[in-house]
Formats: sequence, structure tokens, C-alpha cells
Amino acid sequence: MKLVDCQEQWQLNRQYGCWCLEDIVYTEKATTPSVQRLSIYVPEPYMTSSGVIDPDGKMGRFNARTAPVVFENNSAGYREMPNVPLGDHRDESAKYLARGMVYVTCGCRGRESVDPDGRLCAKAPGTLVDLKTAIRFLRHNAEALPGDCSKMISVGWSAGGAMSALVGVTGDNPLYDPYLQENGAYMDESDAVLAAQIYCPITDLEHADAAYEWQYRADTENEGTPFNPAGTMTAFQQALSEKLASRYIDYFNSLGLRDPATGERLSLDPGGRSGSGYNYLMKQLEASASDYLRRLAEGALEDDFGVEDYFAGNYARPTHRARRTPEGFLHEIIHVPGKDKHAWLRWDGKQARIDGLDAYVLNHRRRMKPCTAFDALDCHSPENQELGSPERDCMHFSPDVAKAASTLREQFPKEAGALSEACEGLENDEALALRRRLINPMNFVGQGAAHYRIRTGACDADTSFMVSLVLALALANAGKDVDYALVWDRPHCEADCPGEVCDWIEKLCK
Ligand code: DHB
Repeated sequence: MKLVDCQEQWQLNRQYGCWCLEDIVYTEKATTPSVQRLSIYVPEPYMTSSGVIDPDGKMGRFNARTAPVVFENNSAGYREMPNVPLGDHRDESAKYLARGMVYVTCGCRGRESVDPDGRLCAKAPGTLVDLKTAIRFLRHNAEALPGDCSKMISVGWSAGGAMSALVGVTGDNPLYDPYLQENGAYMDESDAVLAAQIYCPITDLEHADAAYEWQYRADTENEGTPFNPAGTMTAFQQALSEKLASRYIDYFNSLGLRDPATGERLSLDPGGRSGSGYNYLMKQLEASASDYLRRLAEGALEDDFGVEDYFAGNYARPTHRARRTPEGFLHEIIHVPGKDKHAWLRWDGKQARIDGLDAYVLNHRRRMKPCTAFDALDCHSPENQELGSPERDCMHFSPDVAKAASTLREQFPKEAGALSEACEGLENDEALALRRRLINPMNFVGQGAAHYRIRTGACDADTSFMVSLVLALALANAGKDVDYALVWDRPHCEADCPGEVCDWIEKLCK
């Protein structure tokens, strides 16, 4: 595949003001060509006619030679996903194109992908390997493309946020070479990026269960998800939650994290609701609320209510809902009446104060998933499937869950016994350990791209706040440039303030 040969295929889309080259298969060794495709959207001034680059064409602060290339992966639910067409509900191209950036949307294989023989072919790290293959493909064809491939910015949300982080930290890491080779990637091209925008990453899967219980342990009821009906956790689940929450404190403290601004060592006290690490998270949450309430008071938001309405519960708040459909999952943002009167939140016109994480959880953003949230008791979560192998579709993968369960065998012989038994061999499974390692950005924080921007909605309960916060801290402590924030009242989505991701890219590409 050579993009110079596709010159005639660029189409001008007047509605979006861009040239489009769509649905290009990015490897000759595609096992699942329906999804191993990307589409490229180029601001109209960068071409004079189909495939003809105008080196002087200008848009925003860039021209056809200097424009950054935004590479957005569409990984979701760790499933295989197509690249996103213009106008789709997941299409994010417009904001980047309007600021003169070249925009690429990339599809990828996922946990359920099979090759033409029906064999599972993209268990971890298959999705990431596809994205690296696609980046190398773009670089190999750089001459046929407007934009500057040395200024690639990776973007993604949720499982795609995990992938974006990984694209950032693992650029050109030789550990992936055998997979890239097998996938038909250009081995003499680079897959390194300048920066990664990471939205609400579902990542650090082997610690995500413990982090979830640390955050949500006060709440014993979960809302319904496509994988779990709504319900009250069993006595075993509640006991396991307590054990996992306490394991998380040990894990957090073992990381030796520091406040990037002050150098203060961050730790969680026994009990997990005090200590510098806890205070640091609450400071982020309060900063998020302060920022929101200030903008709301100034009328700087699109919301059609004011601060008083907010505190009276007179408003509708956007929330994320995932529904199972015959095609897979439909992710929607719906508006629910804001019943919460925010008695746990105080605002003096400048600074918001929150009465504590448990008050926040119980009154504002309750538990979404039951214990265990990721390495599911029945071994059928997206993550169990992602870390499975071509031979075993779903696998238990979390040593934390296995160890916590084994301490409960006397008290809950049936449930704890069954779980410990199902987890047998986990510690010695080297192939699993490698798969886990290759899809956890925490293993590579000192490497790869120099710049990271992380945003998570403060009403996102798909994973614990700690997952993205700890990633941000680890990156910053390893000397990376990190811009981290929780975005108030936003659900699981590309939570952000309008224009700010493009401001960040412009600053990096000055
Ligand atoms: C996604 C959401 C989840 O809650 C999860 O466990 C894995 C992936 C997603 O939206 O990509």
C-alpha cells in the first residue's frame, strides 16, 4: 500500500472543509481488514486538488508543512473497532481540523478479533500493535501527506485512553518488535509520538480492582452495566472489597510518588482516608469543582443553569450510559435530573470544599461496578477477555484479587475457594505476565514521549480516579511534562473544556 498511488482518491468534503482519504488498510498482513483501517482528514487549504499538496496552504497557526498530525485511536471496550466516519457520534475531527491540524482516525483489532481461520488473533497487546503499525504506515507515506509526521499527537478515551498512554510511553520500544514484524509493520519506521492526550484511561488493570475498592468501598450497591445487573454486593464481595482496599494502600505507598510541585512524598494512611496521597486527590477534586463553579458563575459554560440552581439540584447533569445492542455496545451521554443538593460541597465564591471522598461517592458519584470490577469473579469482563490468550478466551489476571481472595478462604470457603482455585497458576504464567506488562503504561513511564495531557470526568466511575492520577504522578516524577485535571461533573467520555486540547497542541507545536 502506497499513499502516493491513492492521489486520485482524495475527496473534498465541503461540509467539513477537509480533504478525505478514507478506510485505508494500514498493513498488508491484515488478519482482520474490516477494522485494520484508518482515515485521514486534511484541512481544505492544504491541497489544491485531489492529492496535490499546497505547501503554502495555511489554516489557523499552521500550514501544509507544519501542521501537527492528530492520531486518534477508536479503541473502546477493548473490542475491535472501526475507524470513525465523519459525522458519527464518536467523530472528534471537527475541532482539530478547524485549528489547522491533520486528523487521523484509526480502527484496530480487539479482544474478540479472529483471523480468517477463526483463531483469536489480537489479545493483548494486539490493539496497541495495530496502532503502532498504523503510525509507521503514516510515516512511511509521509511524502504523500500534508502535515508534519514528526509532530504526531496520540489521542484516545477509555480503553482508547489506555492505548493513547501506551502509544506515548512505548514509542519505538523494541519489546514490541516481534509483534510488529508479524503484523507487517514497517520495521525501519518510527512509531514514536510527540505527545499523548489521554482521556479517562481504563488502565493499570492489575491494580485497577484494588484501586476501585479503595475508592468505592463505602458503597455496597452498584448501578447496572452491560456486564453486571444493578444490585447489592454479597457478604463475600464486601469482605473482598475491604481486603482489596487495604492492598491498594500498600500498592500506592510502594510507588514512592511525590507531589510534582512541592516534592512532598505522597502516601495513604492506614484506613485510606487520610495521608498526603489522599489529600492530594481531594485537592484535585476540589480544584475541579472550583474551576467549574467559577465558570458557571461567569456564564462561561454551555449549561443553562446558574450556581444557585446547581446547589438547589435544579438542573440536568450529563451522565454516561452503556447499553448492550446487537452490534455491541452503544455509549450514550444522557441527562439526568440533578437530585443531589450538594450538601457535601461548600463554595465561598472562590474555593470549593468537599466533605471527603466517601461523602462524594455516596452522595454524588456512586459505585458503577461491583467487586470485583475488572478481574470479574465470573471471569467474563472485557478485561478478562483482553488478557486471555488465543487458546483461552478469558483469563483471570490480577494477582491482587487472587491474593485477597485466598485470605478469605476460611470465612467464605465456597466463594473464596472457587476464586482462588480459578486463579491457580496465575503467578507462574509467564506469557500472561508479558501480556500484562506490555499493556500497562506504568511499566514505561520514564520512556517515550515527553508530553502528556490527562483528563478524566469527575463523575466517571468506570475506574477509580487513582488510576489516571497515579499515572500522571508517575509520569511527572519520571521527568515528563504532564498536564492533569479532573473535569467536574463530566461522565465517562472525552471530558474536557472546549478548545483546551487544541490550545495544548498549539503550545507544543509552536
Ligand atoms: C471501557 C469501559 C469500561 O468500563 C471498561 O471496563 C473497559 C473499557 C471503554 O469504554 O472503552
